[in-house]
Amino acid sequence: MPLNWIFSVRALEMKSSAIREILKITERPDVISFAGGLPAPELFPVEDLKKACQSVLNNVGPKSLQYSLSLGILPLRKFLAERLSRKESPLTEDNILVTGGSQQGLDLVGKVFLEKEAVVICESPTYLGAIQAFNAYNPHYVTVEMDENGMLIDQVEENIKKYKPRLIYAVPNFQNPSGITLSYERRKHLVKLASEYYVPIIDDNPYGELRYIGKDVPSLKSLGGDLVIQLGTFSKIISPGLRIGWISASTEVMTMFERMKEGADLHTNTFAQYVVAEYVKNGNLDKHIEVIKAAYGERRNVMIKAMREYFPDNVKWTEPEGGLFLWVELPQEVSATVLLSEALKQKVAYVIGKPFYPYEDKDNTLRLNFSNASPEMIIEGIKRLGKVFKESIAQPAKLKKSASK
Ligand SMILES: Cc1ncc(COP(=O)(O)O)c(C=O)c1O
Repeated sequence: MPLNWIFSVRALEMKSSAIREILKITERPDVISFAGGLPAPELFPVEDLKKACQSVLNNVGPKSLQYSLSLGILPLRKFLAERLSRKESPLTEDNILVTGGSQQGLDLVGKVFLEKEAVVICESPTYLGAIQAFNAYNPHYVTVEMDENGMLIDQVEENIKKYKPRLIYAVPNFQNPSGITLSYERRKHLVKLASEYYVPIIDDNPYGELRYIGKDVPSLKSLGGDLVIQLGTFSKIISPGLRIGWISASTEVMTMFERMKEGADLHTNTFAQYVVAEYVKNGNLDKHIEVIKAAYGERRNVMIKAMREYFPDNVKWTEPEGGLFLWVELPQEVSATVLLSEALKQKVAYVIGKPFYPYEDKDNTLRLNFSNASPEMIIEGIKRLGKVFKESIAQPAKLKKSASK
């Protein structure tokens, strides 16, 4: 007899991630996939991590296998405080809480700040994992459009006045999904607004260290101080399977995060924290970041060059200076969801843009990842996608004419 489960409203209202569903189809071995957000596995520092594991077991021993503090182990928090203080405002280990990846950071933000109808201002499009994490707390989203310099700040101000938001959520560096970076001027303006109206900013920053072109822009955290809560992660700069990220915040807010963290999972995996703390000793991390930056920067260039060659003129895209993604805009009337089935027939995949809008109200955009496929595969995949676009999207009259000459 089937059981008559009575689930919570929260559980019933949560949708499963559109991306997970799509990834099941797109990650077939014969498909060239630009769909995931995966780092290149061949670049994971396997040998150095092996040495780190061994050294932790030899030197830290049973302590590395024991329960540990909810805030995280001291050596890792000290390392992070020191590293972040180089670029950010000065921090101590008391400003750091180690999380199970940034994704847990987002959930803790939801737990601490959100509830039914609380308003979140975010970019449009925004990181779909944040929407998923926040959805458990039933907020209302107010989205702000972006141009090549990030969020349109006038819209932020209007919305702050109108909706009195609980927080502003932003991915200011090489945003997932658009690849757009918030400009310095706009960062200053955003932080000014946040302090004028007293709205905390969540500065979600998994990609800040992955810049291939241009110069770093001072972070929202360094400009906004205590009003900014920054989320960081080793997922893209060491490996996502380790599930080690962090929250950097003022001690006042940290107390709230610490309480929620305790209830959620007591603490992040002690052994993995020690392994990371061991690995990052002796400048390993900076060396590794240089290696992945060289590879991803090349893949980004290869993808953009191929897009210029193979995509039709009425398809637009962003050309990010870092991160893992670029964002494609098809003509208004074209559905990226419908085109995906055509793309899959050609054995190439992308992620549709729809789930990156909190109310899924736009369907002519898509995200491409350039970190996970080799340059050769990128060229081949973009060629196939270009063919799909050319065959499926009506060309503007001007182009049709010149093509038929
Ligand atoms: C903007 C953003 N925030 C958070 C995350 C989650 O990262 P983590 O692996 O640290 O949980 C991601 C992962 O892709 C991301 O793109």
